[in-house]
Amino acid sequence: MKKIAVIGAGQMGNGIAHVFAQNGYPVNLIDVKQEALDKAFATIGKNLDRQVAKGSITEEDKQKTLSNIALCTDMASACSDRELIVEAATENIDLKLKIFNQLDSFAPANCILATNTSSISITRIAAATQRPQHVIGMHFMNPVPVMKLVEVIRGYSTTDEVNQTVVDLSKAIGKIPVTVNDYPGFVANKILMPMINEAIYTLYEGTAGVEEIDTIMKLGMAHPMGPLRLADFIGLDTCLSILRVLHDGFGNPKYAPCPLLVNMVTAGKLGDKKGEGFYSYSDPKNPVVSASFVKH
Ligand code: CAA
Repeated sequence: MKKIAVIGAGQMGNGIAHVFAQNGYPVNLIDVKQEALDKAFATIGKNLDRQVAKGSITEEDKQKTLSNIALCTDMASACSDRELIVEAATENIDLKLKIFNQLDSFAPANCILATNTSSISITRIAAATQRPQHVIGMHFMNPVPVMKLVEVIRGYSTTDEVNQTVVDLSKAIGKIPVTVNDYPGFVANKILMPMINEAIYTLYEGTAGVEEIDTIMKLGMAHPMGPLRLADFIGLDTCLSILRVLHDGFGNPKYAPCPLLVNMVTAGKLGDKKGEGFYSYSDPKNPVVSASFVKH
């Protein structure tokens, strides 16, 4: 397995392309917009510069990595000779179903179709194709070049062989794969999102402020980021949509999203990507608690 395609040049797509390319895999990075591809390529360059500055790779490694990435806007031709395609488009079920339906006709018959979805059912996505046995979840964590885990999700029909191929490939790119079954939120988000939701409830109920909650979880539980800072980093819209998948999928009120989260998403306060969430990112290197949550 050598030839890879990554669909979607957003935050996750550029990280996934970066890691495959750095490990010697030729990657077609595909997006409908050329400007999104150019932005992703510049971001990969900047992230590689960090690694060069830290001495973990050389300037030559950086150039080799970049030369392994081809930017493509024509999905049909960019997928026609691939062995693995990882879809990392926006987290929207209709869009993903459409992409998988198209991939089924564009990709070679034995090509594995993976999705980086954070919570949409793999079985449902697989049903949009004629090859559900070749469809699998490959859930990378953000920032992809740094985080070791790949949560591998077996759909209802995914074969042992396809699972093993994806596990081996994940190891070959320096990641640690863990295979799980296809139920709402899989494992990572079934556990992470209720914690984030509980942190938001704790703020909403006035038990403590943003900094207090995050400091307690950082210092008390040795989390690298507090849950509110992490929610901003992931994107509050993404957190809300995953909570809705859990709530709908299990029908259990314990997953009901906190009304404060719903309000913030409605108001467009989505976290890092919009410059404000629980924190304000006017200076992205020094986030400060958003004015909405500063006690007077
Ligand atoms: N590309 C390459 N390297 C990067 C990078 C990137 N995008 N971002 C950070 N780094 C590197 C830095 O260069 C640095 O390298 P060294 O260890 O060699 O010095 C290292 O990562 C640490 O970065 P920083 O020193 O800048 O900052 P930090 O110590 O605060 O770490 C962090 C940043 C890695 C993001 C850390 O805060 C962290 O681990 N946060 C938690 C992240 C997390 O939980 N991610 C999962 C989110 S959930 C998800 O993704 C799935 C979902 O479905 C919602």
